[in-house]
Amino acid sequence: MEPYHIPALLEESLDALALRPDGIYVDCTFGGGGHTRAILERLGPKGRLIAFDRDDDAVRNVPDDPRFELVGHSFRFLYRFLRYKNALPVDGILADLGISSHQIDEATRGFAHRFDAPLDMRMDRSAEISAWDVVNRYDEARLIHIFSRYGEITNARKLAAAVVRARYPEPIGTTGELCEAISQCTPAQTRNKYFSQVFQAIRIEVNGELQALEALLEQSAEVLRPGGRLAIISYHSLEDRMVKQFLASGNTAGKQERDLYGNLQRSFDPLQAKAIVPTDTEVNANRRARSARLRCGIKR
Ligand SMILES: C[S@@+](CC[C@H](N)C(=O)[O-])C[C@H]1O[C@@H](n2cnc3c(N)ncnc32)[C@H](O)[C@@H]1O
Repeated sequence: MEPYHIPALLEESLDALALRPDGIYVDCTFGGGGHTRAILERLGPKGRLIAFDRDDDAVRNVPDDPRFELVGHSFRFLYRFLRYKNALPVDGILADLGISSHQIDEATRGFAHRFDAPLDMRMDRSAEISAWDVVNRYDEARLIHIFSRYGEITNARKLAAAVVRARYPEPIGTTGELCEAISQCTPAQTRNKYFSQVFQAIRIEVNGELQALEALLEQSAEVLRPGGRLAIISYHSLEDRMVKQFLASGNTAGKQERDLYGNLQRSFDPLQAKAIVPTDTEVNANRRARSARLRCGIKR
């Protein structure tokens, strides 16, 4: 059987968290629980780990361990849940962003263009907005914005126009119909890459991924104790830029604000100047880790 997910940058992210055996830690993106299990192995009997995942499927991976709890909601409510669970302040937070291999490989979820499936792409299947709504209901200007910003697609105008044309008179119902509708926009040699970018853009919009990351970054400064660690693995340049700028300047826009004494007003000190990337050995063993970028900050 295929594994649910192979954790990326596992040793590197554990090192970044500088785990204390009796500390309280948060895994914001539980998934297959690979990072969680490795953290639990390093915690002592008094340690505590609270994980988040908004996908019900992740529940099947929950370890039988009294030090562990899973919150089945978005990590955008980090502060609220940690306070409710009497877990403040925490010693470290890990987030391994994006989707799991399980989500991509589950044909019916609609995340992958290689399967023909209903246009869904929701991590949380109780969410109101699905890929169907984005593709069939968003106006052309909004589609252009999503395709160019979230998918970094250079011919976003042509693509959005093709989508809008194809959804009349009948809506676009499946991933297969979407691929067919946009095939005229696709460069022949890089067809798969292009489809992946389109699907990524729609997925980021459906799941409000950038908004959730923004909320996580802001709240992490409130929930970590001074000296606590924040470690984020991202797979997309937009997310990586947000994390980098937040750690360096205290906000995701990268605006440098200083106090009366000229000190930068930021909540974290970045642990490294450059993102940590997987070794060739890791990428050879797990192709899906190839775009992973780990950044870490220490709470001031
Ligand atoms: C890349 S996988 C994490 C894999 C995990 N580190 C492991 O070792 O198996 C990302 C997971 O985070 C979840 N996720 C993504 N965004 C989320 C959010 N805003 N709130 C809660 N879970 C989220 C996804 O449902 C998915 O299961």
